[in-house]
Amino acid sequence: MDLFRKKSVDQLVAESTPLKRTMRTFDLTMLGIGAIIGTGIFVLTGKGALTAGPALSVSFLLAAVCCGFAGLCYAEFAAMAPVSGSAYSYAYLAFGELIAFVIGWDLILEYALQAATVSAGWSGYFNKLLEGFGLHLPVELTAAYGTNPDVTTYFNLPGFVIVLIITWVLSIGINQTKRTNDVMVLIKLAIIVLFIVCAVWYVKPSNWQPFSPYGIYTFQPGSTQPYGIVPAASIVFFSFIGFDAVSSSAEETINPNKTLPRGILLSLAVSTVLYVIMTLIMTGVVPYKEFAKYIDAPVAGVILETGMNWLAVIVNLGALIGMTTVMLVQLYGQSRICYAMSRDGLFPKFFGHVHEKYRTPFKGTWFFGLLTAFAGGFININVLFELVNIGTLSAFIIVSAGILWMRKTQPNAPRGFRAPGVPVTPILAIVFCFVLIAGLNWETWVRFAVWFGLGLLSL
Ligand code: ALA
Repeated sequence: MDLFRKKSVDQLVAESTPLKRTMRTFDLTMLGIGAIIGTGIFVLTGKGALTAGPALSVSFLLAAVCCGFAGLCYAEFAAMAPVSGSAYSYAYLAFGELIAFVIGWDLILEYALQAATVSAGWSGYFNKLLEGFGLHLPVELTAAYGTNPDVTTYFNLPGFVIVLIITWVLSIGINQTKRTNDVMVLIKLAIIVLFIVCAVWYVKPSNWQPFSPYGIYTFQPGSTQPYGIVPAASIVFFSFIGFDAVSSSAEETINPNKTLPRGILLSLAVSTVLYVIMTLIMTGVVPYKEFAKYIDAPVAGVILETGMNWLAVIVNLGALIGMTTVMLVQLYGQSRICYAMSRDGLFPKFFGHVHEKYRTPFKGTWFFGLLTAFAGGFININVLFELVNIGTLSAFIIVSAGILWMRKTQPNAPRGFRAPGVPVTPILAIVFCFVLIAGLNWETWVRFAVWFGLGLLSL
């Protein structure tokens, strides 16, 4: 392996023929929203509200600004090199094979564990839905070990099963996936709007006082976990992850130079608006400290407080559908990154094999589907989402640095989309990413360092 081998845009594009081109701006935006709105808003807002109080909506804005700057950098790369592999391919283009491998390794963490995190959140709402019908799974099978200190759980069975079902759908081809995804995303958006319209009448502005009980960043006596607007932003950053998955589908996109940046930025904008409105309503209806009671399913908790039981069933179903689309897009992105890495010889050929009939990376899809299903089955959601966040923030840093580097080394290369405000935009993206990494627990930094070490050892 030549670790400093680089690729040109033409070379990347020339290598990228076997997948079918079927995606347009609408599909990409739906793919983006499909990947973005999920466990972050439906589950992690509970922890976020406990960490920042009503200022959680400011934390969402902070995370959105970080993603916006990074999103512009992703869009420039996506338009320059419209190929599968997202950040992995961009790093190959800018820095060469070593950094590309590092980021590919990082993205495995991001995508596979992300879908695993979402499967844990999915399970919380699935159990609530079953409870609504008077049914109960054995409690040991409702979550991974250590998820809830008050209950002994061993395995997240619902999450495990849904990941396997999604893997099957993905492995049989993009057409089925795209249609399924579009319908599910529309349902998810409709249900969020329904929640907003119904719950806004129950907001008590007194619940917004004090608005920011923990300020920007602080420690509480006896706790190693940081509190405040920044640490909550580091948690809910998870809610925005996914727009970069849009760029993974470049090889299946019609007119990618225009379509990809539009898809990325549109999906990010729509979700930011919905998140800020939704969290203002949530913390306006329920006093922020009471989210401790509703940590598994905080949106369901808010509805419970309003007494609109009919809405609970609809929203629980909507949350399940929403989280399903997230897993769909993430597992899709994962298989495409491995496909690109395998084509470059950095991953075994097995992952690059395209199924003759379905035209999908069939074996790679199943490999990562199973990995994700087991990770979500056995690993605690709190460990999972923090690792995903640090992995993604690191990828954002490398992509943003890549834009700075490309503008310097290849200023005249054709770019279908130019991020505005370079060099300030990528520099701000990098600064914001470091701020959000600083808001995570130190245990997460250590786990991430270990994962990286393993990757380098495997080189
Ligand atoms: N942004 C995605 C979610 O919140 C990962 O579920």
